[in-house]
Amino acid sequence: MARIIAIANQKGGVGKTTTAVNLAASLASLKSRVLLIDMDPQGNATMGCGVDKNNLEQTGCDLLLGEHGFDECRVRVAEPTPGFDLLPSNSDMTAAEVGLMNTEQRERRLAEAIAAVTDSYDIILIDCPPSLNMLTLNSLVAAHGVLIPIQCEYYALEGLSALLDTIGQVQNSRNPELKVEGILRTMHDPRNNLANQVSTQLIEHFSSQVYTTIIPRNVRLAEAPSHGLPALLYDANSRGSIAYQTLASELLGRTARSSAAV
Ligand SMILES: Nc1ncnc2c1ncn2[C@@H]1O[C@H](COP(=O)(O)OP(=O)(O)O)[C@@H](O)[C@H]1O
Ligand SMILES: [Mg+2]
Repeated sequence: MARIIAIANQKGGVGKTTTAVNLAASLASLKSRVLLIDMDPQGNATMGCGVDKNNLEQTGCDLLLGEHGFDECRVRVAEPTPGFDLLPSNSDMTAAEVGLMNTEQRERRLAEAIAAVTDSYDIILIDCPPSLNMLTLNSLVAAHGVLIPIQCEYYALEGLSALLDTIGQVQNSRNPELKVEGILRTMHDPRNNLANQVSTQLIEHFSSQVYTTIIPRNVRLAEAPSHGLPALLYDANSRGSIAYQTLASELLGRTARSSAAV
């Protein structure tokens, strides 16, 4: 059964989508069977995979509202070989959020919609929107772990307690298995003293929950989406791409160790 990881932080611009797309591509290149779920109505992960969000017959919205099945909504991203699957999103997803409000078990819709396909994948990544809304709640209820990208800057830790509280509430009420998968330092600039201080603070607070891999600030990671490509296909040897490939290996190593410990 797939390990389901929600990539969440209600702060915008911290690197959630960049992490989702590049981790999906890097895991696929390591031969993991990957599904990437775009839960953000902005559809940035969809576009970042080279799929035109304005030209979609179905999206995750149709799946969440029960209007179409998984196979009709999913699209295949062919590269890097052997490729990965994407459940795409666009502004219709906002309609899903509103539609879910009047639905029974509204926070479990994503979990239920993907339950039948989790055996087809090794890892399912969910790119969450930048808020703690019903779409994020659906993601946290469906997930085993939460990967929290954090930009090492002054206000980085602000808001983290709200996210950790939400994770705690979901654990208590709807998904007791949910845990913090890991904390990822993103857009890191080692010449910036403040970034180094925040990084040290994170390790003091969260110790081994912080990934060893640090994602550097790297212009190639920012350029790649405008070409509809993960960095691995845009510039495989860039520091940003290499960091995400290292993160993919670290994540697989941790998953293997925790399942061996069970
Ligand atoms: N490591 C990085 N180096 C340089 N630019 C980055 C990096 N990570 C993300 N970006 C850029 O920062 C912006 C916000 O990143 P994004 O992944 O969209 O954040 P979020 O999904 O959390 O809103 C985007 O323009 C993205 O291309
Ligand atoms: Mg995003």
